[in-house]
Amino acid sequence: MVLRPVSAGDRPLLQRWLGDRELRKCTGRRLSILSGVRALPSPTDAQFLVLLREGERAIGLCGLFGISDDGTAEVGIVLGERDTWGRGYGPEALRLLLDHAYGDLALSQVSLCVHAANTRAIRAYEKVGFVTEQRLTVGRWLLGRGVEVLIMTSLSSTSAETATREAERCSALRG
Ligand SMILES: CC(C)(COP(=O)(O)OP(=O)(O)OC[C@H]1O[C@@H](n2cnc3c(N)ncnc32)[C@H](O)[C@@H]1OP(=O)(O)O)[C@@H](O)C(=O)NCCC(=O)NCCS
Repeated sequence: MVLRPVSAGDRPLLQRWLGDRELRKCTGRRLSILSGVRALPSPTDAQFLVLLREGERAIGLCGLFGISDDGTAEVGIVLGERDTWGRGYGPEALRLLLDHAYGDLALSQVSLCVHAANTRAIRAYEKVGFVTEQRLTVGRWLLGRGVEVLIMTSLSSTSAETATREAERCSALRG
C-alpha cells in the first residue's frame, strides 16, 4: 500500500466519491473535508490518496488535520471504493499515516471523532491502537435528538511510555 498527496488530476475521482450517497451517510462532512474539493488547502492539513500499489488504482483518502505546534492533529479516513471495505485496507492505510505522523512530523498524539454506530470504523481504529477517551451526545439542541459519538486517541510510542511512567509514579506516590 502507498499514500501519495492529492493532486488536481484526482478531482474526477474525488467528485465521484462525493456523489456517493451511501458513502456520505457514513462519513458526513468528513468526505468533503478529506477530499479538499470544497476547501482551500491549509498548511496545517496533510491529505493523501490511498493506493493499493504505486501507480495502481486509488481506493480512498486519509489525512491529518489541524497539525499543531503542540504535537497534536486530528485524523480522518474514507475508503471511497466500497468494494474494498472489510478487507483490512483501512487499518493498513492508518498505520502508514500514523508512521508519518509520529515519524516525519514528530507528533505525540492524534485523535478523531466517530459515530458510535460506525462499528466497522471503530474496530479499524482499535486495530491500530486508538482507544476511546470519551462517549458524547452531540447536536441535541440543533438536531432535536442527540447523536452518540466517540472521541478516540492514539499516542506515539514515546508519549505512551511517558504516560505509563507518569501513571506508575502517581500510583507509587498514592502508596
Ligand atoms: C472505516 C474504514 C476506513 C475501515 O476500513 P476497512 O478496511 O473496511 O476495515 P477492516 O477491513 O479492518 O474492518 C474493520 C473491522 O470491522 C469489521 N467489519 C467488517 N464488516 C463489517 C460490517 N459490515 N459491520 C460491522 N463491522 C464490520 C471487521 O470484522 C473488522 O474487524 P476484525 O478485523 O477484528 O474482524 C472503511 O470501512 C471506510 O472507509 N468506511 C466508510 C467511511 C467511514 O466510515 N469512515 C470513517 C469515518 S469516522
